[in-house]
Amino acid sequence: MVHRNDLFAFHALLARITAPDRRPPRILALCGAGLSAASGLPTFRGATGALWETHDPMTLATPEAFRRDPVLVWRFYAHRRSVALHARPNAGHRALAALARNCPGFLCLTQNVDGLSPRAGHPPAQLQTLHGSLFDLRCARAGCGYVERDNRQEPLWAATTADDDDILSVLPRCPACRDRGRSSLLRPGVVWFGEALDKAMVDEVDTWIDAGKIDLMLVVGTSAEVYPAAGYVDVAREEGAVVASVNLDAADLGCLSGMQPEDFAFGGDAAQLLPRMLEPLIGELSQTGEWLEAKEDS
Ligand code: OAD
Repeated sequence: MVHRNDLFAFHALLARITAPDRRPPRILALCGAGLSAASGLPTFRGATGALWETHDPMTLATPEAFRRDPVLVWRFYAHRRSVALHARPNAGHRALAALARNCPGFLCLTQNVDGLSPRAGHPPAQLQTLHGSLFDLRCARAGCGYVERDNRQEPLWAATTADDDDILSVLPRCPACRDRGRSSLLRPGVVWFGEALDKAMVDEVDTWIDAGKIDLMLVVGTSAEVYPAAGYVDVAREEGAVVASVNLDAADLGCLSGMQPEDFAFGGDAAQLLPRMLEPLIGELSQTGEWLEAKEDS
């Protein structure tokens, strides 16, 4: 039987893996949309999953959807950019960022494209954005390779009438293709269904995994249904990790096949649970969080 909501036993595990007479701990995390739910961002699946207008978001996150209807897909992503830009990182993002600062052997893999972990001060070298970023724009033409990073322009294009032809004429275009006399649309720099993860990033994650035994695998706010991301939970387990799952939905706590008796399942909001779970390693979060929020606003 896994430890359910057993903070005391979890803190005992943290004490064991950080004992001064052993090597520094190696901790991996896989995060999903539930981490950002308390910041007001909808999830894809589960009780807080939401339609956008009348569309299932998953049907818009494909290269085929973009080829078929770039205006519809860009309107969806422009909306997500806007919501993410107006949201604030929550205490869950800040707790993981503090863990990264305090624990050099911590690597966070996030499926989220909302930019909230970087804005919480998560050190970039300890964060891999598996599914890309809403704020990267890349050329939709195969073989071009143009990428613009961290574009936070809001709105992304000037308001026009709601007419799709008008919107098509103002969608972002690739400057590299323009210089070659072509007209290509830019697309969101996210990984869509059917697309591979960035190879260089996968190699970096594999190098980190191969560097030694993993002590703890945090699985935060994800349905762990989308591969290859979800596969990192099994990889960490094979490398010896105890798994600690944090999820609002009791059903999804058990979705991680192969939970072992030494594993942990915490039911609740990641923004509330993570600061308490990680307190022995990060201290009380409030001061850190206030400092970062103040810095971000200044
Ligand atoms: P999902 O929407 O599949 O799962 C979100 C999970 O978060 C569910 O298990 C919820 O129960 C849980 N949850 C909701 N609110 C929470 C809260 N406040 N605290 C803790 N847990 C909470 O989202 P992901 O697992 O991130 O990919 O989805 C994975 C990928 O599928 C996404 O990156 C995206 C999506 O389609 C692509 O677009 C390629």
